[in-house]
Amino acid sequence: MQRALRFLLLLFCFTLTIACQRQEKIQKEMPVVKENTNRYSQKVSTLLSQMTLEEKVGQMTQFNGFWDATGPVPKEEDNNWKYDLLAEGKVGSVLNVSGAENVCKMQEVAVNSRLGIPLIFGLDVIHGHKTLSPIPLAESCSWNLELIEKASANAAKEAAARGINWTFAPMVDISRDARWGRVMEGAGEDTFLGCAIAKARVRGFQGNDLSAPHTIASCAKHFAGYGFAEAGRDYNTVDVGTSTLYNVILPPFKACVEADVQTVMNSFNVLNGVAATGDEFLQQEILKGKWDFEGFIISDWGSGKEMIDHGFAEDLEHVAILSANAGSDMDMESYAYTRHLKTAVENGHVKMAVIDEAVGRILTVKEKLGLFDDPFKYCDVAREKEIVNHPSFREDALEIAKESIVLLKNDKKRLPLTKKQQNIAVIGALADDKTSPLGSWRIGSDDGTAVSVLEGLDKLGINYKYAKGATLNTNDPNFIFEIKVNEDDRSEFDAAIDLAKNSEVVIMVLGEHGFQSGEGRSRTRLDLPGVQQELLEKVFEVNPNIVLVTMSGRPLVLDWADKNIPAILHTWQLGSETGNAIASTLFGDNNPSGKLTMTFPRSVGQVPIYYNVYNTGRPGPLTDVVFWSHYIDEENSPLYPFGHGLSYSEFSYSNTQVNSTNQEKIKVSATVTNTSKTGGKEIVQLYIRDKVGRVVRPIKELKGFDKIFLNPGESKEVVFYLTEKELGYFDNNGKFLVEPGDFDVFISGSSTPQDIKSFTIFSDEVSP
Ligand code: BGC
Repeated sequence: MQRALRFLLLLFCFTLTIACQRQEKIQKEMPVVKENTNRYSQKVSTLLSQMTLEEKVGQMTQFNGFWDATGPVPKEEDNNWKYDLLAEGKVGSVLNVSGAENVCKMQEVAVNSRLGIPLIFGLDVIHGHKTLSPIPLAESCSWNLELIEKASANAAKEAAARGINWTFAPMVDISRDARWGRVMEGAGEDTFLGCAIAKARVRGFQGNDLSAPHTIASCAKHFAGYGFAEAGRDYNTVDVGTSTLYNVILPPFKACVEADVQTVMNSFNVLNGVAATGDEFLQQEILKGKWDFEGFIISDWGSGKEMIDHGFAEDLEHVAILSANAGSDMDMESYAYTRHLKTAVENGHVKMAVIDEAVGRILTVKEKLGLFDDPFKYCDVAREKEIVNHPSFREDALEIAKESIVLLKNDKKRLPLTKKQQNIAVIGALADDKTSPLGSWRIGSDDGTAVSVLEGLDKLGINYKYAKGATLNTNDPNFIFEIKVNEDDRSEFDAAIDLAKNSEVVIMVLGEHGFQSGEGRSRTRLDLPGVQQELLEKVFEVNPNIVLVTMSGRPLVLDWADKNIPAILHTWQLGSETGNAIASTLFGDNNPSGKLTMTFPRSVGQVPIYYNVYNTGRPGPLTDVVFWSHYIDEENSPLYPFGHGLSYSEFSYSNTQVNSTNQEKIKVSATVTNTSKTGGKEIVQLYIRDKVGRVVRPIKELKGFDKIFLNPGESKEVVFYLTEKELGYFDNNGKFLVEPGDFDVFISGSSTPQDIKSFTIFSDEVSP
């Protein structure tokens, strides 16, 4: 008996100690939240004063669609509790519910609750909804901000007509690792271009009037560092230095805040040991503090509960405490808030001010969308019919698809082909594919809705014969989840080789399937999947007159092709109008003008490879010793550098001039001439190098670009101005500064330097 008592006493003390430890830990974790209810409208403040704690927690909760489209009931019995919460006004948002009628029915339940607060409906509208423009990485290669903005505006119009009022885009993660499958969703490796594109996308989605029925709230994601997953493996650890964090990763998010982005999504990863969803420094200090972001933060899908796996949170209650205190306002699919946040507040682990802050932000976004005035404004079935798949969206998708194509190589002007060309063979499964070119991240769109390359050729009236050659498992309905590429099916090789033998020119359409990139689709090899490389080499043996059209959601390793194939056209995944864009480019109706926004490596071993590297202490090249920074089996240089892209026109650059008399606005200009007989667009790029820094600076950094059109023989002076914004950088304390000293500058058609000029900055004025 006595023993039992002693045991119970011990157990009690032990439990008490653990509880105290947790209490102490939580006390330390409590953030300082500015209590500031004044900033909310009358409507929001009134609601805040009327809401119960449970209703507030409900607003901070987002559920995945649990709705049966045929009636206002949950799909599965398991979801009855979610329905009850919805009816009680204890759900703030749902994702993956779309269609005007469907959204309307669900909204009705929400607005019939006690306070009638409408839901906000989120969806991944990444590069279109029903009509798809090119994957974001492809679009970024157009460097055409106007078209990119228009593509996002069209996506918003289509999605809004289907009841959606919030997209989880743009993804503004900078990434230098082509193995990472989500590079397809971003704007490439460069921060300067990434910022410009991020702003264009936010402007496109949100327009000038967020309350209009055709604009939707956007979401900058994934905050932060997700694109730096170690070894390119999705969801993997991120460990980066402060210089990279401040100068490379964070600026595109800041750009979105400047463009008034309404929401930000945190991320799955651990950044420098801290799980992003529970990262107080990133969310409270930087985003909501320093940058004054007024919208709300949503977690990524289940990223809250994944903090347990990371070893950052003990259990789901701890997840709720950490996330809320770190400033993650809405919980997507972790169920941490709905299950534990109320108790956490009651137990004093989360202050009421934290809750009010989050709910105030969420309600304000709803108010800006006009949902309080009319919760059903996105639910007009007639408008849905009129707008979805509108032909004008297709026209715009074609325009940007044409500008997204990158001509990597064109020896002896092999391209364009003439329409009179006889005896054309087309080889490759992707040429006849109407689904893969739609790319990844296309929730809402329908399979088989892309114009295939063959259809594009037909439309131009091109005479060709077709053989598949190698199979990609594109018709497997499970392809979206299980990536199976037929590794060894050579059964159609012979027919393709025979066809090539008897043709004058062979167009080979090879590459990745659209679902071989995107979330969870990291690769260790960057070659043509399956037996496609082998097919290419076999066809080459019988007919070297090949035009290679490559498709992918990431940079590929094309070293063999570069050595052997005269013309290579990289087309990424161009969306609904793929075939028309490619056919018109092959036959000269479209003059390619895209430039790479991600470096193409020679081999996977070079990855991560990017243009704005530091010099190292042993940059070389040295010929007689081995002790310099290089590989013994591969060059350092990429196969195709950032900014590279050819045209059917030829452009020359001359007369680069720098005027640094006005130190606040350094003028740099060059003359660009179209020396060919074909009119065309050129992306003129300006790069600087800050020669010496307290924190070392990259050997070149993009700081300006302009896409211009030049008629045959025409010249144009292109002028750039460099201000402290372009000349400065963040030191390792996150302080922005411009250091006096020498700078190099060049203007070129790619990141390959030419005609380097210099100037000096004399004063060391530091910006506020
Ligand atoms: C992705 C997010 C996406 C979310 C909702 C997650 O798996 O990482 O980017 O917005 O799902 O679909």
